[in-house]
Amino acid sequence: MAGNFLQGKVSLVTGASSGMGRATALLLAQHGSKIVCCDLRPEPNPKGYEADLDKTTVQVIEQNGGEAIFQQVDISNFPQVEAAFEQTVAKFGRLDIVVNCAGLWVPFRKFVDEDDELWSKMMAINLGGTSKVCRLALRQFLKQDVDPAWGSRGRIVNISSCSGVIAYGGQVAYCATKAAINHLTRAAAIDHAQDSINVNCIAPGVVETGMARGNIENKDIIKVMKAATPWPRLGKADDIAEAVLNFCTPASQWVTGQVLSVDGGMTLGVPA
Ligand SMILES: NC(=O)c1ccc[n+]([C@@H]2O[C@H](COP(=O)([O-])OP(=O)(O)OC[C@H]3O[C@@H](n4cnc5c(N)ncnc54)[C@H](O)[C@@H]3O)[C@@H](O)[C@H]2O)c1
Repeated sequence: MAGNFLQGKVSLVTGASSGMGRATALLLAQHGSKIVCCDLRPEPNPKGYEADLDKTTVQVIEQNGGEAIFQQVDISNFPQVEAAFEQTVAKFGRLDIVVNCAGLWVPFRKFVDEDDELWSKMMAINLGGTSKVCRLALRQFLKQDVDPAWGSRGRIVNISSCSGVIAYGGQVAYCATKAAINHLTRAAAIDHAQDSINVNCIAPGVVETGMARGNIENKDIIKVMKAATPWPRLGKADDIAEAVLNFCTPASQWVTGQVLSVDGGMTLGVPA
């Protein structure tokens, strides 16, 4: 999709150093948005599939002529999240788009073997962190006017998982928190539709990122994942970034509360 339709807009992306968050930050910047890159650290996940793992997301954006800053944020650390929003407004004066990519996944284990520590972390990061970022975004959006050309006061795009749409063996806590993000999206969208604020969500299937590399390189796991993905290839971070961008176009101004599966058909059913 061509065009600088995000010129003058400011986007905050969590998990922006790697994978889907990085691809999203780069794509939004390519369409004119200034970017606040939030992550635990600026360097990309070394297990990632990015061609330029030696560069931070901010460096790549600047190299491409865009503008970006890095904010060190653990999304489950609320004072850090608040500081990132304060810095965003201090530096760029506004906020238009928030993309919640940061998330926690842990290797497969049966429900009976999950412990309280795992549940606390999953809830704090995947659900608590995403919720906190959404609420701070809404508060900032509500201070700003509706952009008549764009049709919105602000847009939120959450990243959940196909595991939040269909149940996936060996990851009950992850499935539960991702399903909660899907429903948080719908409920938040209802609360803020009258404010002209869009809240949507993408539920990715298996995507080649550092987070998924362990599964992709495990021949037993990847066999199951490929069999469960009708499309002839796995996902790439750019597939998700393009779907995020679609939720941010002027043409998508009447789309809210939707959970879009971007998964090569994984959640459709059982392939023959
Ligand atoms: N890769 C997949 O197959 C897949 C499938 C479905 C959903 N997802 C979801 O997509 C999102 C992005 O994952 P990815 O595959 O791009 O992984 P990734 O490892 O490439 O990127 C995740 C980024 O999030 C950052 N991060 C992790 N915890 C954080 C925290 N508490 N605060 C701030 N930043 C944090 C990491 O440092 C990393 O840079 C996650 O929410 C994940 O659950 C991934």
